[in-house]
This record gives sequence, C-alpha cells and structure tokens, in this order.
Amino acid sequence: MLDLKAYLAHKAQQINQALEAILKTADRPDRLLQAMSYALMAGGKRIRPILCLAAAETVDGDPQEIMPAACALEMIHTYSLIHDDLPAMDDDNMRRGQPTCHKAFDEATAILAGDALLTLAFQILSSFAINKPEQAIKWLRVIQYVSHAAGYCGMIQGQMLDMASEKKQLTVAELKSMHRLKTGALIEASVRCGAELASANSTQIQLLERYAQNIGLAFQVTDDILNVEGNPEIMGKAAGTDEQRHKTTYPSLLGLTESKEFADQLVENALAALDAFDQKAEPLRAIARYIGHRNR
Ligand code: IPE
Ligand code: IPE
Ligand code: MG
Ligand code: MG
Repeated sequence: MLDLKAYLAHKAQQINQALEAILKTADRPDRLLQAMSYALMAGGKRIRPILCLAAAETVDGDPQEIMPAACALEMIHTYSLIHDDLPAMDDDNMRRGQPTCHKAFDEATAILAGDALLTLAFQILSSFAINKPEQAIKWLRVIQYVSHAAGYCGMIQGQMLDMASEKKQLTVAELKSMHRLKTGALIEASVRCGAELASANSTQIQLLERYAQNIGLAFQVTDDILNVEGNPEIMGKAAGTDEQRHKTTYPSLLGLTESKEFADQLVENALAALDAFDQKAEPLRAIARYIGHRNR
C-alpha cells in the first residue's frame, strides 16, 4: 500500500529544490524576486506539479525529465493565488500560513511578482523546447495546453465568473462550469502535460483526462467545503470568507452534506477512470482519495 504522506512529501521536496534552483539563476535578489520567492516558497501543497509527475510515472515516464513543466505549473498557480488575494479580488490577508504577498510587500509589488511568475513559467517551458530540439514538439504542445488552461479559455475566465458571482447567485450548472474553469483547467493541464511528456498513447490520455476532470472539480468543491468548516491554522488561510463575500459555492447552493456527497462521487468517477492502469497509477489513485478528504 502506498504511503501517500511520504510520497507527497518526497515529491514536494524535489519540486521545491527545482523551484529554488530556478529562482537562484536570477543574478540579483531584488525586491521583485524577494516577493516572487516569498509567495512561491511559502509551502503550498504542490498538488499540480505532483499530479504532473505522477501522471508521467503512471505511463512509465521519467519524472525528472518532466520537472520543468511541473515547476512552470506551480509558478502559474502561485501567481494566480497572489492576484486572487489582492484587494480588487478576494482581499485576503493570509495565504500559505503567512501574510499575503500584497500585505508583506505592497499591492504594486504583488501584482508585478504575479506577472513575473506567470511569464517566467513560459520562459522555462520554451527554453526547454529550444534546448531539446528532438523533443521540441512535445514541449510546444505543453505550452499550448498550459496557456489555454491558464488564460482566457480557462483559469482567468473562471476567475472573472467568480468575481461576477459575488453579485448574483449562480445555478449549480453555472457554478460547475465556473469551477472547472478557475480550478479544474490547470489541474487538467497538469495531468495532461505529465502524460504527454511521457509519451502516453491516446487511450491513456483520454482516461487520464477523465480522471483529471473529476479531481479538478472535486478539488474546488473541497475548497468550498473547507471555507465553511476548515481550520484556518491547518489551511494557512482564512475560513468563512466565501459567505462574507456572498460567493456562490457548493455548500451555499447544496448544503454541506450534499456537497460532500458530490465530492465523493467525483472521486469515485476519477478512480473508475484509472481502472485500466496497473499499480503505477497508485499515486494518482491515492491523490484522488486525498483530494476528497483533505483538510488543507
Ligand atoms: C488553492 O489552491 C486555490 C484553489 C484553486 C482552490 P491549493 O489548495 O492548491 O493551494 P496551495 O498551493 O496548497 O497553497
Ligand atoms: C482560487 O479560488 C482560484 C484561483 C486562484 C484560480 P478561491 O479564491 O476559491 O481560492 P482560495 O480559497 O482563495 O484559496
Ligand atoms: Mg477567488
Ligand atoms: Mg480566494
């Protein structure tokens, strides 16, 4: 039986080392880099890069070769959190167990640190494509998936809908589509990139996509549940804020019990999508179960 805690800790440590190495290549540790590093190295769960590595392992890929993509995904995610916490958006004070980037620095620096992490992610992905010409097409495809998932057609569109949802109540269908965009898209891209870079075949990719769609939505449903009943100390961020801002969430529409049942159902769907895979998919299976019952 896989020891998920040890697996996640080991992978997070490898990802952290790779992220540190990328930040160290900058010649001057100026205020902008300090703000980028402050947000990036604060100890997030690293779920997206871990999913990318675990998806690659599921289809016999070498996780070390895929590490630049994993790092890029975490940079994009961290940038989204910096901007999500700004006064113009969720106006939050705590993130990853420390004051949000704009609180620790200032708003302009936080905006720019987010911008810089986003662009650095694509610098890393494209540098890798150039340095490995025989693999360039795979990396180019990754750039396409990630930009699609992170931008207008994905996460940013979801964030826009999320902001609009403060002023009107969404239907369950609208909420689901917003969650799939704001959170699901990057999670789906993480799994997809790992699978593609490890040269998964089209059947494997289809199944892994189904897995990712289900855990991507489950991840945001549990985020909504934690915002109601989670422990801020453990989460490293405040609870109760969705209600304060009149956000439409799964608990606000369906109640806590039904939201939990929905998250369980999504995890079951994700596990079913992995039926055809062998024991190399154990980390992905364990991560799906964890996502359904996480406390941070
Ligand atoms: C929080 O993401 C924001 C959502 C999309 C729900 P995570 O829960 O992955 O946050 P970190 O990376 O662990 O801080
Ligand atoms: C964050 O969603 C999603 C993105 C940053 C794309 P939330 O606003 O629901 O997440 P938390 O609760 O602040 O982490
Ligand atoms: Mg938000
Ligand atoms: Mg938020």
